[in-house]
Amino acid sequence: MLCERDRDATGSSAGGSADLVVISNRLPLRRGSGSGEAQWVGTTGGLVSALTPVLRGRSVVWVGWSGEVGDAELPDSYEGIALRGVPLSGEEYDDFYVGFANRTLWPLYHDGIRTPGFERSWWAAYVAVNRRYADAAAAAAGPGATVWVHDYHLQLVPMMLRALRPDVRIGFFLHIPFPPQELFVQLPWRREIIEGLLGADLIGFQVPGAVANFARLARRLTDATGADGVLRYEGREIRVGAFPISIDAADISARATSPAVVKRAHEIRRDLGDPDLVLLGVDRLDYTKGIEHRVRAMSELFAEGTLATPRHVMVQIAVPSREQDTHYRHERERLERLVGEVNGAYSQIGHTAIHYLHQSVPTDELIALYLAADVMLVTPLRDGMNLVAKEYVAARVDSTGSLVLSEFAGAARELRSAVLVNPHDLDGINDAIRMVIDLDPARARSRMRSLRRVVQRHDVYAWAREFLSALQRPAAVPCGPGAEVGRDAEDR
Ligand code: F6P
Repeated sequence: MLCERDRDATGSSAGGSADLVVISNRLPLRRGSGSGEAQWVGTTGGLVSALTPVLRGRSVVWVGWSGEVGDAELPDSYEGIALRGVPLSGEEYDDFYVGFANRTLWPLYHDGIRTPGFERSWWAAYVAVNRRYADAAAAAAGPGATVWVHDYHLQLVPMMLRALRPDVRIGFFLHIPFPPQELFVQLPWRREIIEGLLGADLIGFQVPGAVANFARLARRLTDATGADGVLRYEGREIRVGAFPISIDAADISARATSPAVVKRAHEIRRDLGDPDLVLLGVDRLDYTKGIEHRVRAMSELFAEGTLATPRHVMVQIAVPSREQDTHYRHERERLERLVGEVNGAYSQIGHTAIHYLHQSVPTDELIALYLAADVMLVTPLRDGMNLVAKEYVAARVDSTGSLVLSEFAGAARELRSAVLVNPHDLDGINDAIRMVIDLDPARARSRMRSLRRVVQRHDVYAWAREFLSALQRPAAVPCGPGAEVGRDAEDR
């Protein structure tokens, strides 16, 4: 393996001309519906807006999948970013995306909420597809370029890319949790995943706990040595750190003051029957999000009379997701049965207790919902960050409203003034909702003001800048055998 200082001399003859290559499973656009003819639309929020300011003036290529099986005819560029599609065959879609990414890694990295599957054919597809992404990135990157790899679908790419292009600087960011070693070691390919990640110069996680989990596993499963923040492996120094992702808070606040959105928020309250209190949940319909637990808690509050229609109303948006996976289909069936039961018991003619929408919602409508909601319930059983919590706070421009937040969401580390709950503890959720209903408005305002300071200070632009500038920083410690901190060598 090459040492940092050898890079320029060795370089690479292959490659393109991009200064920056971004690699993520999905490209930042999807095929729109409606007209019937091929039409690609940008996906809202997320990485593109985060990267726009740091991309200005640079030649950028984004490598990713179109979201469709087979060869999709993609546009050459989107918002000034050149696109390189990585096609997936039907079999790869099943084995790589549905299988290894979402049946093995997703549940394993989310506390094993569902039992992960360990199919060898899924792993083979994961290796093959990661290699294709690494090849595409190697072909796009100019000499000495920066390559930023995203998320759990692509954990082998850093080391594969390093072998192809030792001259490039490689960053990896994991958007989801990284599990403790007791769970991770179940993975039959545990060492390969850790070695894949160790190909990066900088590995970013959402929270410090994930950094500690990764560093401990790297020392245990590979020859890596060093402290949590700086590991040494095969003569290189790898930085590992927490970079909590955020949102475009200024944009959401601006939209929340636009007359159209404010008017829509009033309409929503009116359509809900002008209740005293609107409680809101907004999630992808995923078993990690704790929607069922939350609805059960609501049901108990309706049963005891703390909540009663028409004065109190809940709105739950459940955005359709990964419906080809049986876990997700079962989750939907269970949730819809439960919502039906609660509504059957506690609604009145013309007054529904839980307004349930299984659909995705355009950004401005979502912000209007945030404005219309007195209480936001964000209670995932485990979540890397949870940007809905941050969006709600950014939308509450008058500092009213209360956020009930799971202590198992990454966002809980920053949003300390939320009402934090254990999402498994229905009594705890009920207490939290009773508490916010009775909360003195001045106290509620002061909590919301302090939450707003957090999201305004640390927005998605700060996140992208911090990650990319950490990635550019030269290695602080020279290569070669050096001061080695302890090594945990069991279970290689
Ligand atoms: O990081 C979690 C994530 O992969 C997001 O990037 C994405 O928006 C979401 O889960 C849904 O993922 P997908 O529809 O690509 O499976």
